[in-house]
Amino acid sequence: MAQKKITVVGAGNVGATTAHIAATKNFADIVLIDIVDGLAQGKALDIAQAGSIQKFDCKVTGTCDWQVTKDSDIVIVTSGLPRKPGMSRDDLIAKNTEIVKSVTQQIAKYSPDAFIIVVCNPLDAMVYTASKVSGFEKKKIMGMAGALDCARYNYFIATELDVSVNDVQSTLMGGHGDDMVPLPRFTTVNDKPLTELLSKDKIEEIVERTRKGGIEIVNLLGYSAYYAPAAGAVKMAEAILTDNKTTIPCCVYCDKEYGAGGYFVGVPAQLGAAGVEKVIELDLDADERILFEKSLAHVKELVKKVGEML
Ligand code: LAC
Repeated sequence: MAQKKITVVGAGNVGATTAHIAATKNFADIVLIDIVDGLAQGKALDIAQAGSIQKFDCKVTGTCDWQVTKDSDIVIVTSGLPRKPGMSRDDLIAKNTEIVKSVTQQIAKYSPDAFIIVVCNPLDAMVYTASKVSGFEKKKIMGMAGALDCARYNYFIATELDVSVNDVQSTLMGGHGDDMVPLPRFTTVNDKPLTELLSKDKIEEIVERTRKGGIEIVNLLGYSAYYAPAAGAVKMAEAILTDNKTTIPCCVYCDKEYGAGGYFVGVPAQLGAAGVEKVIELDLDADERILFEKSLAHVKELVKKVGEML
């Protein structure tokens, strides 16, 4: 079987880290592409040279030329402006819509059968942009946010309870914004409900910190997070390329599901060889539903703005 091919668009922090993590998994050749001459080439060479130490032998190529990305199985879009302190994800909308539009045109031209995983912000609206511009089947387009938000939420819970993060099972829904919806009622730690392990106030504190998890890092670093976002994107790519059917919270197309009415929004979704194979429908209670609707309303507003720009 021919080796699979992943293209990572954008060789900044998120893109280069995505390429490196993906390379260490050794399940596909990696192409890293950027418009800045030398950047993707230099980082790809550096990553490839780690192979001898980290024991991976997939090909890692850096380029500015879309021709090299031809026939990719998955394209991960990380290009776009990152946040600076004081900026919300929504402040990036005009510039990043332009970038995602032009990148998606290239993807459609060179890799018409690819899956697209969007990572740039404002996430849900950028996934919509990729869908609208590519015209690809909706189950082949998704956004990475839930995996990251859930990882942050799990980390905060594990730290609070002094347990391994591997013993926390949780999920999360809604847009990738301050109104995302972590779901404590569907969170367990070693099979015990979180709601029996932590006080209501402590859970609320963790939920709030998760919602603000991105800006916490922006305020420390002066720019956006990249290790956990990259790990989230690779987890999604791995689920698709290895057809492992993992359920990952991510931004996918929902019509009847959760009554979303035809929007890309964060929900738990099973990923496999067909892309989004199933949206997992949880039985939300009235409060959870209200929070989801509120987050979805925000996504709809952003999509409307993008719609006017496309
Ligand atoms: C974050 C950015 C990637 O949440 O949205 O860190």
